[in-house]
Amino acid sequence: KKIVLAYSGGLDTSVILPWLKSRYPGVKLYAFAAELGQGDELEAIEDKARKSGADGVLVKDLRKEFAEEYCFPMLRAHATYEQDYLLGTSIARPLIAKHQVLYAQKIGADAVGHGATGKGNDQVRFELTYQALNPALQIISPWKDPQFLADGLTDRETAIDYARKHGIPILQTKKKIYSQDRNLWHISHEGAEIEDPASEPNERVYAISVPPSKAPNRAEYVTIDFEAGVPVAVNKKKFHGRGHGLIALLNEIGGRHAVGQVTLVENRLVGMKSRGVYETPGGTILYEAHKALEQICLERELYHEKQRIALKYGELVYYGQWFHPLREALQSFIDHANKVVTGQVKVKLYKGRATAVSATSPQSLYDTNLASFAMANFDVTAARGFIDLFGLPMKVRGLRQQS
Ligand code: ARG
Ligand code: SIN
Repeated sequence: KKIVLAYSGGLDTSVILPWLKSRYPGVKLYAFAAELGQGDELEAIEDKARKSGADGVLVKDLRKEFAEEYCFPMLRAHATYEQDYLLGTSIARPLIAKHQVLYAQKIGADAVGHGATGKGNDQVRFELTYQALNPALQIISPWKDPQFLADGLTDRETAIDYARKHGIPILQTKKKIYSQDRNLWHISHEGAEIEDPASEPNERVYAISVPPSKAPNRAEYVTIDFEAGVPVAVNKKKFHGRGHGLIALLNEIGGRHAVGQVTLVENRLVGMKSRGVYETPGGTILYEAHKALEQICLERELYHEKQRIALKYGELVYYGQWFHPLREALQSFIDHANKVVTGQVKVKLYKGRATAVSATSPQSLYDTNLASFAMANFDVTAARGFIDLFGLPMKVRGLRQQS
């Protein structure tokens, strides 16, 4: 038996390597790690996978694909989950799972697996992608295996004990036990005291941005250029074909102003509510800038329909349905609408806020003459008839209610 595992070097995925060796004697384990801009050392990860029992390791740099084919299409959609979550973990899972499937096919593995728990969203995202891309592969999910529980692996504390017993190097201690997921787009923090919505999370959790109290007293401006809804330059510096570099630079700029921090209680797909702290500095700046450009470039009805679609699109991403035909069809609509979203936006960063303060576009539909309060060259008398007919149904009802 050959299993390709999604491997991050974190606690939850590290313990499953030695455990799988005992669960399936003779099994060959292949660890797949994706470089997504999580800031870890890749060589260390390979070494760690081998020390934990991997027979083969593949580390693949997916930053460009992640930025340009996952983050940017989602940005064009303006998708969020429950308003505030910019989907940083949700958007990465299908990409990891896709390359895991490719690796499995290349080496002739019969199974793929992951270390997500049986209570979260991530398990769904991995497994839906495996099913969509290669339904023949068997799915191994140790955290849902009754034997795993029977072996005493029931939470992150027992996982730490198990790792120590098997000589697996881990960073977590029982004091600092957050479950974190970091990539180019964001870092999430869950678990420990964050799980209590009645108390404010300690601002020490912030890892890629300063707390607002440490942000500079002076605002900073950043300009972003878009071509057909794709961000291509920051402060005039061009990033064509290097979307990952663009996001990394914006993380740095936004991070020093505490931009993109949210604490929220979200509804997981599997039913329960959970609380998390998220940092999405670059993504937040991009969403703000892209919105300002859409506001001047998109016709009203198109813009409204696009907003409705964003809600559904956000659910599809959160639910792990990236490779769902509906997501693909909605993407066509979104990308078509974004053909005119070209131009430049200036965003002001100040103490946790990112505010678009100006936008220009050769495709702008904004007409200063039309918008101004001056009445010249506009037939205001046309508005009379318009309102009469637009209000007719309400007028009829008003008359009925009066009689
Ligand atoms: N709650 C977020 C989501 O479902 C973050 C999940 C973080 N995952 C993790 N393995 N730490 O997208
Ligand atoms: C996990 O349960 O593995 C992490 C959190 C989530 O997937 O929602």
